[in-house]
Amino acid sequence: MSGSLPVWDPGRPGHELLDILKEEVRTKGKPNTARIHEIAELTGTTSAKVRGVIGYYSDLNTDDSTVHVCVGESCRARGSKSIITELENSGEVVGKIHCAGLCTNGPAVIRENEEVIPISKDGDGLQFFLSMDSLSMSYGAESIAQSLLDQIPKDAALIRTGSRGLFHLEPMLEVLVNEKRIGFGPLDADETLSVVDSITNISHSSHPKYIGEVESLEEFSSQNRFATQRIGIADPLDIESMKKLGAYSGYSNAKNLGAEGVLSELKKSGLRGRGGAGFPTHFKWKAAADEKSSIKYVVANADEGDAGTFIDRMIMEGDPHLLIEGMLICAETTGANQGLVYLRSEYPQAKRILQSAIDSARESNILGAESGFDITIANGAGSYVCGEETALLESLEGRRGEVRARPPYPTTSGLYGQPTVVNNVLTFAIAAAILREGSELYSSLGTDSSRGTVVVQIVGATNRPACVEVPFGGTIGDVFANFSSLEGVKAVQIGGPLGSVFRAKELHDIELSFEGLDSAGGILGHGGFVAFGDEFDPHREVVEWMRFFRDESCGKCTPCRIGTQRALELLTRLGTENEKEGDRVLITDLDDIMTSTSLCALGGLAMNPVRSTIERWPSKFGGHLTPKGGVK
Ligand SMILES: Cc1cc2nc3c(=O)[nH]c(=O)nc-3n(C[C@H](O)[C@H](O)[C@H](O)COP(=O)(O)O)c2cc1C
Ligand code: SF4
Repeated sequence: MSGSLPVWDPGRPGHELLDILKEEVRTKGKPNTARIHEIAELTGTTSAKVRGVIGYYSDLNTDDSTVHVCVGESCRARGSKSIITELENSGEVVGKIHCAGLCTNGPAVIRENEEVIPISKDGDGLQFFLSMDSLSMSYGAESIAQSLLDQIPKDAALIRTGSRGLFHLEPMLEVLVNEKRIGFGPLDADETLSVVDSITNISHSSHPKYIGEVESLEEFSSQNRFATQRIGIADPLDIESMKKLGAYSGYSNAKNLGAEGVLSELKKSGLRGRGGAGFPTHFKWKAAADEKSSIKYVVANADEGDAGTFIDRMIMEGDPHLLIEGMLICAETTGANQGLVYLRSEYPQAKRILQSAIDSARESNILGAESGFDITIANGAGSYVCGEETALLESLEGRRGEVRARPPYPTTSGLYGQPTVVNNVLTFAIAAAILREGSELYSSLGTDSSRGTVVVQIVGATNRPACVEVPFGGTIGDVFANFSSLEGVKAVQIGGPLGSVFRAKELHDIELSFEGLDSAGGILGHGGFVAFGDEFDPHREVVEWMRFFRDESCGKCTPCRIGTQRALELLTRLGTENEKEGDRVLITDLDDIMTSTSLCALGGLAMNPVRSTIERWPSKFGGHLTPKGGVK
């Protein structure tokens, strides 16, 4: 690592403060005044700063919950409310979380210290493959692994991989037969013996759970997998196997091309950021490259706060070297020397796997002193707005995650005031894939303004959840028809909690692209498509969204801090006997003000799901809101 350290500033004690406080709260409860003083001394900050931080992050709250249930959109659509009632009736104290990244198999119920280390086995004989992705584990992959250990031949290997994203087949066991990966799924633990028998007796194709060659399945072979290409194929922690599949070849190409060459490749590829705003990646990298500074940072945004999205987690668990490679290419291009991954605290398995991949990249001198670039993981502390890039930087500096006014932009003055590139995990992954495959191939796919591929995550009340990588273009309805189903689906929210809500039948008229969603009044966000079924209650959802925004507002700007609270009050009354005269005028005015004057997209888009839902289901709100605020 080169360059001198940033100037010490007691107002910016660094992320270590959050780690110390998390451990303190976990082991001893909330610190008292004397202890706060000690922690302040230890971390070189003031007691007031420590208090401010404790009051900000939900992970630093103490509660007596015995279990946590996810109440994010997808889990809500899958019935978290009734699970909570059931658990409470059985005497549990239920805490709520907003997305554990287990969206296809919700409602997610999380107990502390539940982390399971996946079992694997070496061997030169038959090669079995089983996903250790958190979702696969939630479908029961570990009990499959347990029973397999006793059943597979002594010389067989059980290799743990990421997930192929075809969740209706999970847990899915694959085995290499005649150079082809054949699959069985969805499996129960008591079916593994018959599967192993069928393979050893060469009668596997007649097994009831036989699904054939996995990569020939229509829903797999019809994808264009760039960022997801290696996920599910090999053990992500076996760096040599990953290299054989192309890991770090994009980095070698980048070194040969030089900074200008990489920027030109990215520009030609048309890559736009996948964190939500769709900002062209080459602009950001060029801006940082043009800065003169001995310290520059590369930050991966792995906060993935939008319920209904989990591809960042799948990459970190299934192909962590792809993220490392993307960050390395960015560092090579911009002259950065330090990398950080800001990882949401709800992803313990991703942390374990990514850390292990970082360690092996260091052992291979890909990272570390010899390469001039290293990466550390910083855990989030349960704040949705910390996914916003400037709030994220504040959090990395050990402060409350409040959004910064821009300019200056992070590429000029980011972490500790130094030039910083912040990109989403998937953006880094695609950048690495582009450098591996070439911009020509990538940009040959997609539409004029949305080049390449999009990773679509279909979750919620659908009987066929999926995570697929397909070219931009075509309609959203087509993607559901090809990879999932709209049967029984009443409404779909696209692009996370701040995204618009559409009727299922509209989706056949909306192009799958940044611009397609934009012209339909929506956003693509991080590619999450949450389906709601017949139980969709527009009024209840609108209130839930606004309550979430009110709770998660960082409080920096008035339109959002006050606006979300007032909107919550108004929406709760709207269309009920408590509605007051003038409420409709107030809501439309509030919408105008919040949308046009909020400092960041949390306040700026908070009315998006509200407006789109009221427009489509006016009868649930006592009628339409007209632009002037009257009833249509
Ligand atoms: C409230 C809020 C939450 C956000 N959460 C995330 C997130 O979890 N992950 C992410 O990559 N970007 C998130 N963003 C977008 C980031 O601010 C930023 O645009 C992104 O990290 C830039 O990376 P990209 O150019 O690769 O998209 C969020 C933005 C807002 C306003
Ligand atoms: S819009 Fe909300 S979250 Fe964003 S800066 Fe303002 S108060 Fe903070």
